[in-house]
Amino acid sequence: MTISHAPASAAQAPSDIAALITDSRSFARPEKVHGAFAWLRANQPVSRAVTPNFDPFWVVTKHQDILDIERQSDIFHNGDRSTVLIPQDLLRGIEQTMHSPHLTRSIVNMDDREHRLYRSLTQSWFMPGNVKKLSDRIRSIARSHIDRMIARGGACDFVSDVALHFPLHVVMEILGVPEEDEGRMLVLTQQLFGARDPELGRKPDAATDSVSDLSMLEAVLGDFHSYFAKLTADRRENPRDDVATVIANALIDGKPIAEHEANGYYVLIATAGHDTTSASTAGAIWALAERPDLLRQVQADPSLITGLVEEAIRWTTPVKHFMRTATQDYELRGQQIKAGDWLLLSFLSANRDEEVFDDPHDFRVDRPLNRQVAFGYGAHACLGQHLAKLEMRILLEELLPRIRSIELNGTPEWTQSIFVSGPKHLPIRFEAA
Ligand code: HEM
Repeated sequence: MTISHAPASAAQAPSDIAALITDSRSFARPEKVHGAFAWLRANQPVSRAVTPNFDPFWVVTKHQDILDIERQSDIFHNGDRSTVLIPQDLLRGIEQTMHSPHLTRSIVNMDDREHRLYRSLTQSWFMPGNVKKLSDRIRSIARSHIDRMIARGGACDFVSDVALHFPLHVVMEILGVPEEDEGRMLVLTQQLFGARDPELGRKPDAATDSVSDLSMLEAVLGDFHSYFAKLTADRRENPRDDVATVIANALIDGKPIAEHEANGYYVLIATAGHDTTSASTAGAIWALAERPDLLRQVQADPSLITGLVEEAIRWTTPVKHFMRTATQDYELRGQQIKAGDWLLLSFLSANRDEEVFDDPHDFRVDRPLNRQVAFGYGAHACLGQHLAKLEMRILLEELLPRIRSIELNGTPEWTQSIFVSGPKHLPIRFEAA
């Protein structure tokens, strides 16, 4: 990418870059965004973005800096301002309506003791030991999705036919949402994460201004909440072995958690738990479809699947960023961050950091140590990361022996979103084994 403008000041990101990385449409053209972040890493790894529609924020692009910030969760908070980069007028609207910078209350926007207490309610469900116990069930779900794919007779859109539904089914079983309601959960998640994508947003033309954004998001959350209110009532009456039962009956300091907190928890798991994994699973298949040599290599040596999973997660980086707020002044690479400043941690950029990854734009399954940071790090590190990796591994283990070849059958498309995005359509042709 050619950057036309010299930086306005030592710390300020060039305005064309600031505009690009705040525009959801750019994320449907990843090469442009990667070009912008590569420029920032090389020239201004910590810079201030000042654009007309957003409160000013720092852009943190280096792998090491993101780890350092995430490690210091006492200094860099999640609760004080929005944890997602959203336009100024949407933010002001949320503050006025919710009396908080957040649309929902969940562990993502809690800090310190409160965060630890609420996270620990469900944590054991997602730890490797428990997730491993689910392997057989996950394998059987994977097989049924692959059977359906093969039955399509040699061509499909891997995203809409397989990738969207497999992780959705797994996480909904864990949560306790019945199969007949999965479609509804999928649409609501896409409306939340893909609000600005004309195909996925709730209105036909997607959200075009922040006032309509806010009413749309409130409507989507309202739908989630009315669904989950019934689930809470049911699990209090009829407890089962699922995460909904844990949330519905949760006590913090001996008292039941508030209804809006239970709702926030359900919405977090019901959304974070599938769209992300769908994106990285599609990323893996995209790489295999473009690289017959790679397909042959992993088919011949299935022990490479672990490396394929890590690399697909790095390459796709489904969650592009999270925001933090500094609670005290802090110096980072010579830049003076002030208490109250807002920071964008670009996982997308960190995962292409040339100081950490050789040939960062190449897809390589044999990276000796893949230090991808797509799951974040520290206190808020992704709760579902072991589940996500297990699901991807099992799907690939089951799929690879069932196909002889796979290739692109059209042009893949990416979701337009600055927060969670991945392949939206992945047309493929395949030959069954
Ligand atoms: C948090 C990415 C799958 C549940 C996060 C964060 C990232 C992330 C970047 C924030 C980390 C931070 O702030 O340091 C991903 C990716 C996934 C994935 C890339 C798939 C490839 C899942 C799954 C679940 C899940 C399957 C299932 C429940 C959560 C939860 C949090 C979270 C509950 C909040 C943790 C906290 O704030 O303490 N994820 N995630 N994620 N993720 Fe995931």
